[in-house]
Amino acid sequence: AWVEAVSSRRLLLAEPRAFCAGVERAIEVVERALEIHGAPVYVRKQIVHNTHVVADLASRGAVFVEELDEVPPGATVVFSAHGVAPAIWDEAGERDLAVIDATCPLVEKVHAEARRFTARGDTVLLIGHSGHEEVDGTLGEAPGRIQLVESAAAVEDLEVTDPERVTYLMQTTLAVDEAEEVVDALRDRFPAVVGPGSADICYATSNRQNAVRRVAAEAELVLVVGSENSSNSRRLVEVSERDGVAAHLVESVEDVQLDWLKGVRTVGISAGASAPPLLVEELTAALSGLGSASVSVRSVGSESISFHLPKEVRRPLSERR
Ligand code: F3S
Repeated sequence: AWVEAVSSRRLLLAEPRAFCAGVERAIEVVERALEIHGAPVYVRKQIVHNTHVVADLASRGAVFVEELDEVPPGATVVFSAHGVAPAIWDEAGERDLAVIDATCPLVEKVHAEARRFTARGDTVLLIGHSGHEEVDGTLGEAPGRIQLVESAAAVEDLEVTDPERVTYLMQTTLAVDEAEEVVDALRDRFPAVVGPGSADICYATSNRQNAVRRVAAEAELVLVVGSENSSNSRRLVEVSERDGVAAHLVESVEDVQLDWLKGVRTVGISAGASAPPLLVEELTAALSGLGSASVSVRSVGSESISFHLPKEVRRPLSERR
């Protein structure tokens, strides 16, 4: 059925796609912690929002917990790429836990801005999605002094102490176009509003959105590899849909439904920043069938960013002995 369904199809791979530097770093932190300390290494929340990554690390001895009270006193715990509120650091201290912080440096940048702006007395408006771990962490930097704004429509209901002292920040994984609408609404309502020094939506998020739009312009269907709880992956689906193209989020090739492909000649493929490149390769291979589909890349540029590891896991293992 696959072969018949996919004959003479074109597959367009969006570039960049899949793992970003912050996700690669977070995964390496857990891998190195396992090498250094041995299993189990506790990880608070999913290290990154991807089912396959979490299952793989769990099979190697990582123990994922929701909250720190599930971690035995004195144990080593890794904080996920999405960042944590200061209260979580306090709790780790009280429980005598050895923390290795895998928070993405670009999330930490937003935390630092939240601290700086609230410290000078601003009301901070955080544009983001309620319930996302990154948002919980950033709001926790100054409880009561940061308000979440989820949409342009929500701007009119905001109440601030001094409209002359309002700053906005963003979750790193928003859709760039939607976030701009919210900022426009904020500027209308608070002409003095100030934004972050440089964009909070990270390079990986905006590059993947630009790239998926590039393939969506040529495709009749876009498939995005990523997990349901991955914000930036879901945004890739929505951005494609807003450009008028049918799009689906898939964990892996197993989720692809053949009727999506009916009559479709050109399929665009991307993957969220937490999705392993291997899953994209498997999807592409399956859709290629027996070689009857052509595969080409549509690139909007390459990425060369990488981040230093946290000091607790930085030294090469060979130098530790
Ligand atoms: Fe960091 Fe952006 Fe990836 S905030 S974890 S580089 S999606």
